Amino acid sequence: MTSEQTEPKKKRTFLDRHATLERSGTLLLVASLLVVSVGGIVEIAPLFYLENTIEDVEGMRPYSPLELAGRDIYVREGCYVCHSQMIRPMRDEVERYGHYSLAAESQYDHPFQWGSKRTGPDVARVGGRYSDEWHVDHLSDPQSVVPESVMPKYAFLSDVMVDGKYIQATMKTHRFVGVPYSDEMIETAQADFLAQSDPDADWDGLLERYPGAQTRNFDGAAGVSEMDALISYLQMLGTLVDFSTFTPDASR
Ligand code: HEC
Repeated sequence: MTSEQTEPKKKRTFLDRHATLERSGTLLLVASLLVVSVGGIVEIAPLFYLENTIEDVEGMRPYSPLELAGRDIYVREGCYVCHSQMIRPMRDEVERYGHYSLAAESQYDHPFQWGSKRTGPDVARVGGRYSDEWHVDHLSDPQSVVPESVMPKYAFLSDVMVDGKYIQATMKTHRFVGVPYSDEMIETAQADFLAQSDPDADWDGLLERYPGAQTRNFDGAAGVSEMDALISYLQMLGTLVDFSTFTPDASR
């Protein structure tokens, strides 16, 4: 008998096994990756079920064709560089701008316009705060209404007429990324685009498709200009959800 056979075999404890892991760089790396990926999946996977994270809110609807075109102008002109569209749930913000922004309010935004800088004020609830004429004056020459303003002039928007030629394609693209435009909405896109700011148009169908849409000649001038589109968008911002009846769902 050798001495080894007489000694009772020491049982390897859990910590001994862990020592093996700690002494092998490769093994430790593989094991760490496993642990981290489990943690990652647990955090990230639920986010793929987006229905769970956006509370449905009454009043939210996809943008009307004219509002959507106005939104495109807002993005094109880089308004987001100076204006945010996200009211944070803090007292100073809520007192200045109104109810804090809900996730649902930007659920149809591609891309979202939360913004990260406020050279000018947040515009998430600017709809209805000023008259259309004020917006025309302000966009054409901001200093004419707010002398100390550093906002650039956008008077040219009044000179650029639009016919909604591309609005159907734009809406199809938005539908492709998840905005629930119906076949009917896509079909009537260009007609709705031209009707919204035409005082002689019949607005019944448009209002049925886009409840709460504002219908009038926004810039006061004949025809549909980029000014009409942009003001229709600005006057809609923050007006879709009725905060006098809204109660957050605390179970979320
Ligand atoms: C260089 C920064 C800058 C850019 C770019 C800019 N703005 Fe402004 N905006 C301001 C500032 C500063 C104010 C506050 C003074 C004033 O009312 O003009 C303002 C005010 C406003 C207001 C009034 C908000 C309120 O609650 O009083 C609106 C509406 C507005 N901007 C819309 C726009 C739109 C639309 C665009 C893009 C076409 C735009 N702005 C681009 C700086 C900017």
